[in-house]
Amino acid sequence: MVAVSVTLRKRRANASRGLSRFAPHVYLSVYLATVQGGCGTPTLPSSLGAGPGVMDDNDVDSPLAAGESTRRTFLAQVIAACAAFLTALLGIPAIVAAIGPALKRERAEWLSLGSLSSFEVGVPKAVNVTVAERDGWIETTSVKGVWVVRQSDDSFVIYNGRCTHLGCAYSWQVDQKQFACPCHAGVFGIDGNVLAGPPPRPLDTLLWRIENGELQTQVQDYRLGIAPKVPV
Ligand code: FES
Repeated sequence: MVAVSVTLRKRRANASRGLSRFAPHVYLSVYLATVQGGCGTPTLPSSLGAGPGVMDDNDVDSPLAAGESTRRTFLAQVIAACAAFLTALLGIPAIVAAIGPALKRERAEWLSLGSLSSFEVGVPKAVNVTVAERDGWIETTSVKGVWVVRQSDDSFVIYNGRCTHLGCAYSWQVDQKQFACPCHAGVFGIDGNVLAGPPPRPLDTLLWRIENGELQTQVQDYRLGIAPKVPV
């Protein structure tokens, strides 16, 4: 009885280490084995793992291993969630900065053609303007020609300087009072209509406005060689 009492005290002392699952006779067997074996290393009876209520090594470790596995899984999930959150937090601005310029659509710019006093009624005048164009991340500038026809004090017509046939630059013929294209003998009236040659449509007109005493326009190119006026 003394031995059993001592064993039970050991059992309570070891409860925190998970040994409380051993049946009482296990502790008794361990104690007897220790006494019989002297001060050497105690040996467990071979029948220990087979008796009723006795757990083998795997059974003893399974609950602890399952708990440890659950904690590791939970920590892995928390770390993965934090990593995903940080990736989204840092990645979205980078993605927007990377593809933003490519998705951005440039609005046509109003360009000055000069003061109103520089245009005479009924006399077409050629003007060159510098146009900035953005293609994705690349911005280029080019010089484009337009023709300005002043119809009255406050009425204008602006023509794109490209012939609507294949895009050659045309000129105003003072004597004939018509526009002539040298490439294929295309001819246009001062109103822009086709008078001769292969051009499939009249000259392309552009938007205009008067701002602070200046005539301004938005340069726009259109597809060449076809009858419809289709922006490019
Ligand atoms: S490009 Fe003007 S007529 Fe052909």
